Amino acid sequence: MKAEKPAAWKRTIYCGELSLAHVGQGVILKGWVHRQRDLGNLVFIDLRDREGLVQVVVPSDKEELLDRAKKIRMEDVLTVKGIVKERDPRSRNPDMPTGEVEVVVEDLQVLSTAKVPPFVIADPPKASEELRFKYRYLDMRRPSLQRNIRLRHRAALRVRNYMSENGFLEIETPFLTKSTPEGARDYLVPSRIYRGRFYALPQSPQIFKQILMISGFDRYFQIVRCFRDEDLRADRQPEFTQIDIEMSFAGEEDVFDVNEGLMAAVFEIIGVKVERPFPRLTYQESMDKYGTDKPDLRFGMEIQDLTEIGAGLDSELVRKALSAGGVLKGLVLEGGGEYSRSQLDNFNKKAQELGGRGIIWIKKLEGFKSSLKIEERDLGKIWIKLQAKDDDLTLLVADESETAVKVLGELRKDFYLKQGENENLYKFAWVTDFPLLEWSKEEGRLVSMHHPFTSPQPEDLDLLEKEPQKVRARAYDLVLNGVEIGGGSIRIHDLDIQKRVFKILGLSEEEVKAKFGFFLEALEYGVPPHGGIALGFDRIVMILAGEESIREVIPFPKTTSALCLLTGSPAAVDDKQLGELGLKKTKG
Ligand code: AMO
Repeated sequence: MKAEKPAAWKRTIYCGELSLAHVGQGVILKGWVHRQRDLGNLVFIDLRDREGLVQVVVPSDKEELLDRAKKIRMEDVLTVKGIVKERDPRSRNPDMPTGEVEVVVEDLQVLSTAKVPPFVIADPPKASEELRFKYRYLDMRRPSLQRNIRLRHRAALRVRNYMSENGFLEIETPFLTKSTPEGARDYLVPSRIYRGRFYALPQSPQIFKQILMISGFDRYFQIVRCFRDEDLRADRQPEFTQIDIEMSFAGEEDVFDVNEGLMAAVFEIIGVKVERPFPRLTYQESMDKYGTDKPDLRFGMEIQDLTEIGAGLDSELVRKALSAGGVLKGLVLEGGGEYSRSQLDNFNKKAQELGGRGIIWIKKLEGFKSSLKIEERDLGKIWIKLQAKDDDLTLLVADESETAVKVLGELRKDFYLKQGENENLYKFAWVTDFPLLEWSKEEGRLVSMHHPFTSPQPEDLDLLEKEPQKVRARAYDLVLNGVEIGGGSIRIHDLDIQKRVFKILGLSEEEVKAKFGFFLEALEYGVPPHGGIALGFDRIVMILAGEESIREVIPFPKTTSALCLLTGSPAAVDDKQLGELGLKKTKG
């Protein structure tokens, strides 16, 4: 039989799968040249594929092959036929999972040559993010990105299986649609057929999933892309993925139960046993104790109220803050007694950056010392109230309540994260009873804290028109290690209440009709009580992967200024295309 041409060889195993179990076997590998070392009479190649690397050796007795191997360059694509051999103990590589074996080449062929890459493909990456994003296909060859994208696949699969096993149907909803309010700007898509009219890319499938409940599907989920034109940060992208969930005849506990089970199933992938039930705290408790609605429960150090003690202190600074209606709050930074003057100055700077007046510190390591000039007896009172230990540091803020907890909350988190003891801890929490509405300075009106379809707490309904800002919502967030990984609510299923909420939001009847008329009409045809949640899939995978940014778990991310550097978008379009859409460029 005529030997097959190398290009037609079929791979028998991935490089990264090879081990001592394969010694003596003939194999065919396909992959990229990670490294080539020419030792004159021998050539070593580290061949890389999806599963990892293996060392390939071109032996000295094959001259013609050796000549070809010498010409091989980094990132060339090869097909290799060879025999797996156990490496001699001195040349084993303990840093390489396949380091106990090597493949002795019988034949090989270069399937594709590569230009010298603009950066070395290695972890951690050395090139700038701009360069990496421009050549994302090379960047994604890095083992950590390969691992992250595979982890993402496994997480998505786990979600689908768990949801399906629990009676949820995955149903697709449209991308070309009408704006759904989630608090960001819409990406608009002009219609060619109906000039001057636009589709909006969905900020979430919110209205559609509620309509699916009205249609009787009972339990829906979708792993779905959402689009939001908003300011970006490490954990935000203009297009991102949600695990979107909606359930009929469900209350808060039903939603919590399904989601806790889902998180347990997903975190099992990385060998983490999630503790259930997740702790719950109200929005108010969370703000009071942690100064944020995204509390990091991996550590204690709760904020405490010292206003009563503050009222008896002989301090102009504290007196001024309290007489303006402010508070005195404090917290203990455990073991922070050794903090230097310049570190304390940094706390002060940070407090001011956050809009506060500054911080007061007290320590006790060598007798009481404080930035607040008050009697030692009073420092002692504060120390005892805070239950601080001798080697601790206590920080106090006298300010408006909101500012005081915000400053202390941030300093608390910074302090903990600097200790670097945060690995392998996964602390979930439900934050409940969010206010229904908040005042938007930008818009000069009340806006929904979640979205306008969120149900008010029934006992607060009477306050809706009288004191709207006091109304609590049946809304909840899921928080993990200080990151908001999900948000949802029990929805309004009563047309009158929905209309009242739109009115409080300052929407005229005409506006409501134009924007949501179709939905209000649906609310007239038999609506099951329902509720749901959307989880930020990118953020969950980021935490699973131990990454700091969602850009490390998204194959084709945008930069923090919303650019796709790979394709060069957004890009200009020509006048002809604009003309077809009935659009014209304006200057400026
Ligand atoms: P929400 O707006 O809270 O709720 O979004 C749900 C979760 O999605 C994630 N998320 C993001 N992730 C990456 N980039 C972004 N720009 C981004 N924005 C949000 C967060 C967030 O918790 N329709 C409602 C859900 C509901 O009520 O069921 C909604 O979209 O992890």
